[in-house]
Amino acid sequence: MSDSLIGKDVIAALAASAAGLHGADGNPRVKQVVNRLLVDLMVAIDELDISMDEFWTGIAYLTQAGKQNEFGLIVPGVVLEHFLDLRLDEAERRAGITGGTARTIEGPLYIAGAPLSKGEARLDDGTDDGQVLFMEGQVRDILGKPISGAIVDVWHANTMGNYSHFDPTQAAYNLRRRIETDEEGRYRFRSIMPSGYACPRGSQTEKLLKAVGRHGNRPAHVHFFITSPGHRKLTTQINIDGDKYLYDDFAFGTRSELIPVVEHVSDARKIDQAGLNKPFARIRFDFTLAKSAIAAPTTIVNREHAEAA
Ligand code: DHB
Ligand code: FE
Repeated sequence: MSDSLIGKDVIAALAASAAGLHGADGNPRVKQVVNRLLVDLMVAIDELDISMDEFWTGIAYLTQAGKQNEFGLIVPGVVLEHFLDLRLDEAERRAGITGGTARTIEGPLYIAGAPLSKGEARLDDGTDDGQVLFMEGQVRDILGKPISGAIVDVWHANTMGNYSHFDPTQAAYNLRRRIETDEEGRYRFRSIMPSGYACPRGSQTEKLLKAVGRHGNRPAHVHFFITSPGHRKLTTQINIDGDKYLYDDFAFGTRSELIPVVEHVSDARKIDQAGLNKPFARIRFDFTLAKSAIAAPTTIVNREHAEAA
């Protein structure tokens, strides 16, 4: 059956009533949003003829997702986190803000309060035998002027694709650091090459992806928040070139501007100079921050972030 059973006027009246539109109490913005979402949901139920069983299956799905703290994982998987980025990109374009490094999704696995150091840091604790990765670059403003004292807050997965804190086998803040740029706006770190992340087996996220015939894999990537007073906060990632999922990211985070060259160094002299005994990888990547602007929505997102104990 595809015909709708309830008139749009009836749906509008039900939603308005449920969202408290007839009274003066409550938060006007919440009322506006609840009303709209209820209308859209009732129209979808009616036009798609969603059965009672289907409806309650959906509610059970969401209940379980909440119990497992999975909404942060589902949101990128159903493209909504990327969609919010596209809206912010367009708002910036309309406000005349251009030239900054491309943003992409934060994802659900950031932990606040990572150790802070000046100029450089080592991110790994030496327990992961992955390929050594050196990454370095400069933080600059739109005019090309280096920004000293910027904070490069970096986090990534280990060679199993797992993030510390969410993976109890890793030490607190492993592969997570905050690095303050030096006088020339430079940052530099040593770490290990991450592997791509896969959404947890048996998770609600995976169930949904399976049901729509998709996989739950991301290409290997490194996350960044770049902040500096007077500049717009940048939330972004780089992807590791050559990854099988580079352009098939379940979380829609890949952007072509965010795929730096990965230099594989196997020259014995360079290996020796780096104090290593096997080939390593090197990535150079500069970040460009836009100046703070009142004409565009803020890039500072208030979102719940855990901190390690
Ligand atoms: C998800 C995981 C990530 O590591 C990431 O960067 C983005 C999304 C997720 O599980 O949804
Ligand atoms: Fe990630």
